[in-house]
Amino acid sequence: MRERLNTRYYTIILGLGILILVLVGYFFYDTAVQEQVDFIAADAPIPLEDIENRIENGVHVQTGLLDGEGLNLVIAHCTACHSAQLVTQNRADRDGWKKMIVWMQETQNLWDLGTQEETILDYLAKNYAPEEVGSGNFRRAPLKDIEWYELEK
Ligand code: HEC
Repeated sequence: MRERLNTRYYTIILGLGILILVLVGYFFYDTAVQEQVDFIAADAPIPLEDIENRIENGVHVQTGLLDGEGLNLVIAHCTACHSAQLVTQNRADRDGWKKMIVWMQETQNLWDLGTQEETILDYLAKNYAPEEVGSGNFRRAPLKDIEWYELEK
């Protein structure tokens, strides 16, 4: 009888212990995640909550940037000095975008993008990748809308 009671107590205490561990763990996890989010938001020159998020046909209406993961960060960092058109008009691979960012940092006072740089580069490389032009790498795109005229005799 005594043995049985002891086992029951142990089980209850073990159960409570695990519950408390899970709760404490969740609390710290939650705080850590929240701090990360606050950090990202605090780091952006344009507060993320001020960005108008209307998307139509996959395009962010206010800026013309393509919708995708990292859009908010690109708006927050990359429209602070110039129009988003400078971004949307350009195409480059990840390396090329990295070079443009470094160029702006060295010559145009662009700030350190910190941990957000990865997300921003992912966004740019994915949504503004070089377009495949022609069959060879160095060929221009085929001409379009040409007005042919008759040669005179
Ligand atoms: C601190 C100001 C500043 C910020 C922030 C900034 N840029 Fe720029 N960027 C410039 C200036 C200045 C130019 C040159 C504009 C010009 O030539 O008229 C430029 C030019 C560019 C160009 C054109 C480069 C070329 O070769 O023609 C691209 C593309 C560009 N920026 C993308 C970005 C992206 C992407 C971000 C976000 C990561 C960003 N910019 C954030 C200042 C900035």
